[in-house]
Amino acid sequence: MSQLPTLSATELFSERLLLRQALHDTDREGLIELSTDPEVRAYIGGPRPRSEAEQHFDAVLAANATSRPGNYVIADNATNRVIGTLMLARRSTDSPGHVTEDGEELELGYVLRRSAWGAGFAFEAATVALRAAADELPDQPVLLVTQTANTRSLKLAARLGFRPISTFEEFGAEQTLCTAPLSMFKI
Ligand SMILES: CC(C)(COP(=O)(O)OP(=O)(O)OC[C@H]1O[C@@H](n2cnc3c(N)ncnc32)[C@H](O)[C@@H]1OP(=O)(O)O)[C@@H](O)C(=O)NCCC(=O)NCCS
Repeated sequence: MSQLPTLSATELFSERLLLRQALHDTDREGLIELSTDPEVRAYIGGPRPRSEAEQHFDAVLAANATSRPGNYVIADNATNRVIGTLMLARRSTDSPGHVTEDGEELELGYVLRRSAWGAGFAFEAATVALRAAADELPDQPVLLVTQTANTRSLKLAARLGFRPISTFEEFGAEQTLCTAPLSMFKI
């Protein structure tokens, strides 16, 4: 894991959402669904077998774990129900797709439950996380890597202000590398 810093907040609130690092027992079904839904996983490695996902989350929840730095559950801020997950972490130098010589740039990722698509939740979650990161960290490029065929994700990237700069092959598919300066999200 990178030693470089990412967003340190344990909780972030927006109009409709709570981003939290803490995992709750009641997150179990939502997190398993995110890992096993074929439509959600279409461009991110395909669905995991349900038994594998259950074992994984049962172990994580039993360990009373919080997510790794920069990893958040996106929940409804009124009901605390899981809507998805968001990651603002460091892109490993082992992966292709970088804009600096040293690599390990901040990278944004997001996954929403299928029932939560089309309501602006991913945009709202990404905006609150990027704004908080821009307040906390010095200006630097943020990456967003998505399969070129993932039009919903590319549309979201463009709406957030990310610019596509190149494509490359990874996991047997063409990926689009997008970037934006972190300072762009400062208000
Ligand atoms: C990628 C993904 C997060 C995009 O979700 P999304 O809901 O389309 O994204 P947004 O939050 O930007 O919402 C935009 C949609 O909400 C609509 N919307 C409704 N209310 C809105 C509001 N208050 N604010 C903004 N948009 C709103 C927009 O019109 C748009 O609708 P459209 O898709 O019909 O054009 C989702 O498809 C997903 O989880 N995919 C699977 C995981 C994945 O592939 N992740 C990418 C890996 S990086």
